[in-house]
Amino acid sequence: MLSWYDQAGRSLPWRAKGNNSADAYRVWLSEIMLQQTTVAAVAPYFARFLEGWPTVADLAAAPREDVLSAWAGLGYYSRARNLHAAAQQLAADGMPETEEGWLKLPGVGAYTAAAIAAIAYDLPANVVDGNVERVIARLRAVETPLPDAKPELRALAAELVTANHPGDYAQALMDLGATVCTPKSPKCEQCPWQSACAAYATGQPETYPRRAAK
Ligand code: ADE
Ligand code: SF4
Repeated sequence: MLSWYDQAGRSLPWRAKGNNSADAYRVWLSEIMLQQTTVAAVAPYFARFLEGWPTVADLAAAPREDVLSAWAGLGYYSRARNLHAAAQQLAADGMPETEEGWLKLPGVGAYTAAAIAAIAYDLPANVVDGNVERVIARLRAVETPLPDAKPELRALAAELVTANHPGDYAQALMDLGATVCTPKSPKCEQCPWQSACAAYATGQPETYPRRAAK
């Protein structure tokens, strides 16, 4: 998985790959923007925010109206209000270095706290979103339908998290779900987990995750 990520992982503006440092401010800002918005839509906003407010102190000191107008078009404005409030806490108290610390900030839920811990601090956090649920449901051929399967999928995902480059592992899993283990036609021939994948072995990997009948 890690060598696949080195070769095939996406080069995204907030990642350390390429010329960008993966500091916590950038990772936090990107994760808030990515909560309800696609990677492609986020990229120009991310660049503009960093240009206007290169540090968390700059963002904290900005007038609220400026932050809200820079956010215009990303939607879900409560994210921008929480972002600004959180920036003021971060500038005053410093950046938390644990998942629990991030969870206390406005706008930071379980997924975002785990993603920041993994990506910015290389901690073995269990980063699970819908894409990761799909990959894990396939890898283990989980028969429990969604949404009931969520706790089981989270537990199975946790078993795979290791101390060996957990930040890259988390991002590899995100990328695998986004580019290879896609909802309709997974590209199993490109997948580093193919030989271990229980859904691939069934010949119908796209039928996982199971869903409750409507
Ligand atoms: N979606 C949520 N967080 C992400 C990240 N760090 N990279 C790519 N897609 C994401
Ligand atoms: Fe997904 Fe196919 Fe890889 Fe299994 S082998 S994890 S179904 S891409």
